[in-house]
This record gives sequence, C-alpha cells and structure tokens, in this order.
Amino acid sequence: MGVNTFNSIRGMAPTISVGLLAADMLALGSEMSVLEKAGVKIVHFDVMDGCFCPMLTFGSPVIKSIRTPLFKDVHLMINDPLSKVKSYVEAGADIVTVHLEAGPHIHRVLQELGKTANVNDPERGLVRGVALNPGTPVDMLEPLLPEVEMITILAINPGWGGQVFFPATRERLARAVELIGRSGRDILLAVDGGVTRENIGDIADMPVDMVVTGSAVLDGKAPLENAQFMMEALRGK
Ligand code: DX5
Ligand code: ZN
Repeated sequence: MGVNTFNSIRGMAPTISVGLLAADMLALGSEMSVLEKAGVKIVHFDVMDGCFCPMLTFGSPVIKSIRTPLFKDVHLMINDPLSKVKSYVEAGADIVTVHLEAGPHIHRVLQELGKTANVNDPERGLVRGVALNPGTPVDMLEPLLPEVEMITILAINPGWGGQVFFPATRERLARAVELIGRSGRDILLAVDGGVTRENIGDIADMPVDMVVTGSAVLDGKAPLENAQFMMEALRGK
C-alpha cells in the first residue's frame, strides 16, 4: 500500500502545515529544505486572485514548479473555482481547499474533485477541503459534509499573513466538531491564520488536526526551530 494523504494526516494529527506566504520567494528552495529538515510534512500554498480577496499571490505554475516530498496543501482564495481547480490538481495538490463563499457551485466543485485522481500517485487520494471565512456561520457546512475530507476554519480574514487570531474561533471549531460528529464521516479539522508561538499552547487544546502557520515559522530568523517548536507545542510536549 502506498501513502494515503488523508490517513497520513490523520496519523500525525495534530500537526502543522506551513504557509509559504511569509517565505523568502527568492530562496524558496532553501526555505523548503529547512521545513523538510525540521520534519514538517505539509506545505500550505495561499492562492489569492485579487478578486476573492485583495491580495494577489501565485497560481498553479508556481505550485507545479516546486518539487517536494511534502504534501501540497493548496488553499484557493479565488472566485469561480469550478473552472480552475483542475490546474491545481495537475500542479500536484494533495489537499485542495475551496472557500464556501467562493461561488454558487461549491458542492459541484467538491463533487468534481471527488472524481479526480491525485497526479502524484492515485493511491494517495485527494483530500477535498472547504474553508470558511470568519463571517460565515459554521452551520452552512452541513450540506457539504458528504463531499469533504477536511474543514478549515479561518481565524482571520483572508488576504494577509501576520493578523490576530479571532477568539470566536474556539467556539466555531467546537461547532464544526458537532456537525462532523453528526455526519458520521471522518473529517479532518484545520485552523488557518494568526497562529503564533504565544497562542499555539491554547490552540493545542482546541480540537484541531492541522494548524496552518506562516509568519510564526518563516520569520527569516529561525524557521527550523520555529517549526519544531510549533509541532512540539501541538503534541503537548
Ligand atoms: C491568509 C492565509 C493564511 C495565512 C497564515 O489569507 O490563508 O494561510 O497566510 O499566515 P499567518 O500564520 O502569518 O497568519
Ligand atoms: Zn491559507
């Protein structure tokens, strides 16, 4: 049996997915090898189209060009994902997350992804994620639960790294756990944004399987130590 993305993440939960938004883009290769050395297993790509959220980052060619043994976790903050998700799968995504607010046909996007193979290795499977902005009621997830393997609760408004974690996130995660329990499916729960060395201890007490962290790890100073600190804090060491 080959590696399966969902089972691997379930097996290492809680763990971190490191966001490249804060990376030194001219030294992406060395940033990636530091993460690998630190034992990080998931790398998070924030795709912003300047429409769904104000910033513009990068698209599928950049993601495709990065060769890495880490799982590629692609967070699409873009409008009209239905016509675009395919190119991200072809770029080697292992996790494809779309926003519930990104268009009228999110259910269909997830259905399509459910019929799509992972190009790295079909046995790996694709993890389909749905993300929620802080202003979207968690209960809106309910009809999508049969079509997702991961839920991401944003603890900030999408667009920038280095923002402050909204305290209401704790209750929102608890509500997501209730909905997941009722669905009868095994669904991974992630949180994204505003995670720091100072609050990672509190977040370790929340029911999260994957924590996205960008600027707190890739601070231009001690990424290896930062990544290890975050992983150990989550494991309660
Ligand atoms: C924001 C992104 C986050 C963000 C995390 O729109 O989805 O992934 O980059 O960065 P930090 O950890 O710096 O808040
Ligand atoms: Zn993100």
